[in-house]
Amino acid sequence: MAEEFKPGLEGIVAVETEIAEPDRDGGVLRYRGVDITELVGQYPYERVWGLLVDDDLDSEMPEPEPYEPVGLTGNAPSDLQAETARMAARWQLGKLNEISDEQAREDLGRLSAQMMGIVARSARIADGHTDEIPADVVAQGKTAAERFLLQWRGEADPKAASAIDTYWICTAEHGLNASTFTARIVASTGADCGAALSAAVGALSGPLHGGAPAYVKPMLQEVAETGDPEQWVKDTLDSGKRIMGFGHRIYRAEDPRSRILKETARELGSPQIEIAEKLEAAALAELERRHPERPLKTNVEYYSAIVLDIAEIPPPLAPAMFACSRVAGWSAHILEQKRTGRLFRPNARYVGPAPRSLTAAPS
Ligand code: COA
Repeated sequence: MAEEFKPGLEGIVAVETEIAEPDRDGGVLRYRGVDITELVGQYPYERVWGLLVDDDLDSEMPEPEPYEPVGLTGNAPSDLQAETARMAARWQLGKLNEISDEQAREDLGRLSAQMMGIVARSARIADGHTDEIPADVVAQGKTAAERFLLQWRGEADPKAASAIDTYWICTAEHGLNASTFTARIVASTGADCGAALSAAVGALSGPLHGGAPAYVKPMLQEVAETGDPEQWVKDTLDSGKRIMGFGHRIYRAEDPRSRILKETARELGSPQIEIAEKLEAAALAELERRHPERPLKTNVEYYSAIVLDIAEIPPPLAPAMFACSRVAGWSAHILEQKRTGRLFRPNARYVGPAPRSLTAAPS
């Protein structure tokens, strides 16, 4: 009997993991068994990195070492992808199948810390600056989020740091999403950690995974201009477009990250929260009317956009901000993959032309 084919591998179990499991129906997300609501505001992102990678909240992502990137352009996602691959060469990182688990953990820590700095420096170039913030100023930041802001803007507004920290924690890990799967596939070949992380960055540059916040702010602006969220939603869906920030491959209940980020947006006094809630209500009602068979709820990226806006993150920077948070999940999965040591090699079912000869006589 022919094996069943599932486009997008939906429902296929490709790995076993101890890192995180989105609880599809309960609307809860746990990192190594800990509900993320217990982490936000209690531990900074770098300690959550330690929880995910080392299963230890007392461990943490290291501080970045001095590093001079070459050729940053100000396009953060592509700068990050290129520079992460380049770091592996400049640091002469070993292949995952030839180095110890401890060495891989060290490589991942160095890379993760540096990747945040690359995004901050690239964002600074995009803002039109040609100078760099001195290392001793950056080092004054007490958390990774503060150091990120200092390296980017030379100052770390507390509200912006809190918004970024919450966003990073909420989006640090989420099971076998497209970019994490990519990281694991590359790791399974025995590549070095830089190659695996760089490939993962490329996998989240599209709008269907990690890029949606970039579309949410312009969408809210449009809705605010029309002043009629219900009509805007109907017109958008009638024209065959999707509403960014709604729907999820895994969750059928409310995405717990969306709930936390909405609360954060309210607490930090986002000027967008009112219009965001109006559009959310209109979108949920209309999506339910059109898809009663399929719950389409608010996903993490909708309120991520609002929280990132509190820190004045320009929409094009959203995928790179997502990469900064996901370095924790990617690193944990690369280590887990290294320990299984099994190369990914699924099958493809051939459905192309039947055998034919190029020398056969024309009919
Ligand atoms: N707006 C409008 N309709 C949507 C929708 C959205 N955000 N998300 C799903 N749908 C509709 C689809 O049009 C489709 O309808 P159809 O069966 O009549 O063609 C149906 O719901 C199922 O869509 P499908 O693409 O199979 O769902 P999925 O579970 O594979 O997709 C997403 C998950 C996230 C890719 C999808 O919901 C989406 O594109 N959302 C918008 C982008 C986004 O927010 N991405 C961030 C994800 S965290």
